[in-house]
Amino acid sequence: MNLQILPTQIFHGRISLPGDKSISHRALMLGAMAEGETVIRGLAPGEDVNSTKRCLQQFGVIIKEKNGEIRVKGCGRLGLQKSEKMLDAGNSGTTMRLLAGLLATQSFSATITGDASLQRRPMRRIIEPLTQMGAKITAQENGCAPITIHGGKLHGIHYRLPVASAQVKSCVLFAGLGAEGETVIEETIPTRDHSERLLQRMDASISVSSHQDSVSSHEIRIHGGTLHGCEIEIPGDFSSAAFFIAAALLLPKSELLIENVGLNPTRTALLDVAREMGGEVNIMNLRNAFYEPIADLMVRYRPLQSTKVSGSRIPLLIDEIPILAVMATQAEGETHIREAQELRVKESDRLAALAKNLRAMGAAIEELPDGLVISGPTKLRGAEVESFGDHRIAMAFAIAGLLADSPTAIRGAECVDISFPNFFARLEEVSCS
Ligand code: S3P
Repeated sequence: MNLQILPTQIFHGRISLPGDKSISHRALMLGAMAEGETVIRGLAPGEDVNSTKRCLQQFGVIIKEKNGEIRVKGCGRLGLQKSEKMLDAGNSGTTMRLLAGLLATQSFSATITGDASLQRRPMRRIIEPLTQMGAKITAQENGCAPITIHGGKLHGIHYRLPVASAQVKSCVLFAGLGAEGETVIEETIPTRDHSERLLQRMDASISVSSHQDSVSSHEIRIHGGTLHGCEIEIPGDFSSAAFFIAAALLLPKSELLIENVGLNPTRTALLDVAREMGGEVNIMNLRNAFYEPIADLMVRYRPLQSTKVSGSRIPLLIDEIPILAVMATQAEGETHIREAQELRVKESDRLAALAKNLRAMGAAIEELPDGLVISGPTKLRGAEVESFGDHRIAMAFAIAGLLADSPTAIRGAECVDISFPNFFARLEEVSCS
């Protein structure tokens, strides 16, 4: 689908956004592994979370929806049933990697595949620790999906994460839940901690501690044990909110209230960066929703300055870098985004996608092996850009299109359904020309 975006003058009003995708995957999976029922309100509506739901149903998990509530009938941590058919994780790396952790402890074999994009993404990062724990896993020669997991008895390990990835961490934690003994994960660069929070909420035997010598290095310990079903209220997805935050910061005279946004500190580094750039985002009504912080955000237009982002901040805004790159085109000076090579193995090669599309819109951008250097401010021009089948690229260029001097066409825009169906209609709700 080719979608046309027209330039917009102002972003105005109030909006609330769909539930957090990362928490939704975890709520479904851990709900399935629990004893008793888990009731989820505000589950993310996109295709990725549907993939998780379908895979769990294929393993015999009963998931029912009524009056906007999802009820997952837990089958216990070793209670999944063998599926004769291959599992399809679609476009969802989270589905494949987290599910692999759960499957490694079940007493059967299962094969998971995905779409063309997911079949290009690296899986050795989960195969290695799971193999150390005693699982047998086969993949394609290049370490990609389809992967076959021959589940069985696992033992706990001490694993230092070689790549800052919440998906890898969660995979090992989920395997640790069904393993004998203790599993210790050393995380030298923090990543999103939704799994740890939800495991705590469901009474897992898990603890998180910091090393004396470094505030950012964590050790997470988990023992095998029983989870208890619970009620989960899923906050609005900060990564979806990021597109609206950026538009309100960039369109003169804008004022936008975004309600019920998840503000887990391992997700919100974009707020710090936006403030460093001179942006105004006020946090209001901060509260806790079942172990996750949540608040309303008031965002107002401000002229932005360039910034530098690298190192341990990258994982804390990993999914927001596409929209940060668009923000950088409007900021005064040179913005440097470095040590962000993980972006090359997301749903698309996001560094290449950003460089190609922003260049087509007239931005001054240099692509580096591990990042981008963007000089601004530049008045973007309307152009034809490509989504590369990547939802976050499509949404970032919808915002770029609002800022441009003439219409922008996004090829393959339907991929926004992966995380945010109705994204374009929701943009229109708060756009005023
Ligand atoms: C996610 C973790 C991140 C993120 C992805 C969702 C998660 O991936 O990019 O969109 O839910 O754990 P990595 O952990 O591979 O960096």
